[in-house]
Amino acid sequence: MTVHFIGAGPGAPDLITLRGRDLIASSPVCLYAGSLVPAALLDHCPPGARIINTAPLSLDDIMAEIVSAHQAGLEIARLHSGDLSVWSAMGEQLRRLRALDIPYDVTPGVPSFAAAAAALEVELTLPGVAQSVVLTRTSGRASTMPPGETLAAFAATGATLAIHLSVHVLDRVLAELTPHYGPDCPVAVVWRASWPDERIVRATLETLASTLATEMERTALILVGRAISTTEFEESRLYAGDYDRRFRPVGTAPRFPATA
Ligand SMILES: C[S@@+](CC[C@H](N)C(=O)[O-])C[C@H]1O[C@@H](n2cnc3c(N)ncnc32)[C@H](O)[C@@H]1O
Repeated sequence: MTVHFIGAGPGAPDLITLRGRDLIASSPVCLYAGSLVPAALLDHCPPGARIINTAPLSLDDIMAEIVSAHQAGLEIARLHSGDLSVWSAMGEQLRRLRALDIPYDVTPGVPSFAAAAAALEVELTLPGVAQSVVLTRTSGRASTMPPGETLAAFAATGATLAIHLSVHVLDRVLAELTPHYGPDCPVAVVWRASWPDERIVRATLETLASTLATEMERTALILVGRAISTTEFEESRLYAGDYDRRFRPVGTAPRFPATA
């Protein structure tokens, strides 16, 4: 019996891996984080599955469900939104499972920052503009930020920022970022990326506050940086005709000669 942690993706029910879908289909117990995981994914559960929304449960309640299924010898699908590597609360569950000697595995999912970038049709790492993406958030009631992980510190690098869990404190975000990126820096808010009612607002740090609809106060990502909307960037050297590389030797003395 294994607990299968599965990244359930950003919202569209077909943005899940085939492995994740198949694990759901073969698990007679499914625990899902109901606040963000699309209900349509539960259609993959086998007939008669025990399906539990963990949104109203405590960690102790969740562990009790897992232990009970484990003792009954049942496979468990554990669904969290997006990918499991960020803001999933998987870490604390894995720690308890290790202490209880209950086996588990982890299947990645499409993170919401990737779904938001796809909705915007942008590459977040344009050559010469930005080569780093910072996935971050501001402090909330349930989680404080470690000292040093401030928006201002990340902004000082000029990287593209993907700011989660923060659209409700937009004014504070804009005030912290503007001195570093400048008021004309592009910013986009993607609300419910990949959901049928997805909405996108593109603006600058100076104009965003006046253009954002009030209903976009949850489940939204703020993407900030010059890469969000510039057409002024270098082409990647990787595909340049004169770039000599292992997979495309160029010239009479290539760096990686083809072997016979
Ligand atoms: C608890 S975190 C979960 C993040 C998730 N594990 C991931 O990989 O994206 C929830 C936050 O992720 C962002 N988020 C999740 N789904 C989203 C979506 N479909 N569109 C926009 N933002 C989303 C929002 O910032 C939201 O406040």
